[in-house]
Amino acid sequence: MTESGDGAVGGVDDAGSVDVAVRLPAMRVAYNAGSLDEADLAPTWHEQLQAWLDEAIAQSLPEPNAMVLATADAHGFPSSRTVLCKGLDERGIVFYTNYTSAKSHDLTVTRYASATFPWYPLQRQVHVRGEVEKVDVAETAAYWASRPRGSQLGAWASPQSKFVDGRRDLDTALSAIERRFRDVEKIPVPPHWGGWRIRPDVVEFWQGRQDRMHDRLRFVCTDDGWTVRRVAP
Ligand SMILES: Cc1cc2nc3c(=O)[nH]c(=O)nc-3n(C[C@H](O)[C@H](O)[C@H](O)COP(=O)(O)O)c2cc1C
Repeated sequence: MTESGDGAVGGVDDAGSVDVAVRLPAMRVAYNAGSLDEADLAPTWHEQLQAWLDEAIAQSLPEPNAMVLATADAHGFPSSRTVLCKGLDERGIVFYTNYTSAKSHDLTVTRYASATFPWYPLQRQVHVRGEVEKVDVAETAAYWASRPRGSQLGAWASPQSKFVDGRRDLDTALSAIERRFRDVEKIPVPPHWGGWRIRPDVVEFWQGRQDRMHDRLRFVCTDDGWTVRRVAP
């Protein structure tokens, strides 16, 4: 689906070597995998997101529930990183993390986040933006119980986002936590760990189209309920 006319794909030449600096301007993909009309949309943003998520899973995309989470600190400095969506319903989108991490500090200060699901093989993305709230203790505990023991130990051991002197500090911290919980069958939820829910007021569904004339349909929460508006690509 590359549009470059010289037979080479992206930044890789026929010999398989990469010359990215030269090739970057020529790298482009023709988007013609589908379209998105108003009539195609599910009645609610979360049903539409669930439908696209189901398709991403059915198509065996890697990490289909991965989304790029953007936050800003008190000075407006933005940061982004990938997290995994672990819950989706009419209330919003849930992910789990360390409550002392950089992202959690940002969210505590600003109470707002955006997230983007980047489904490149489907030539789709979904963007959500909204206020955040902490997931309640019972819901967090239910998800925590589903995590593998190793992930639970890691969540206890890692001071996420803090500088550490070296890998050895992390290995030492993990060993200490392993000893601490050696005889404990059900490891408790760390006090510094849990879920955040983004309660969207904007959710945009993007489908790539020919000639960069993409479809963008945006659910917007208004005083009178949700509306759908088309946005120019
Ligand atoms: C595919 C993928 C999934 C990830 N999922 C999570 C996640 O669900 N929760 C999390 O805290 N970090 C996750 N991470 C790590 C984050 O991207 C990030 O490095 C970490 O949360 C620290 O971010 P912060 O310092 O900005 O708070 C994931 C990274 C990748 C690449």
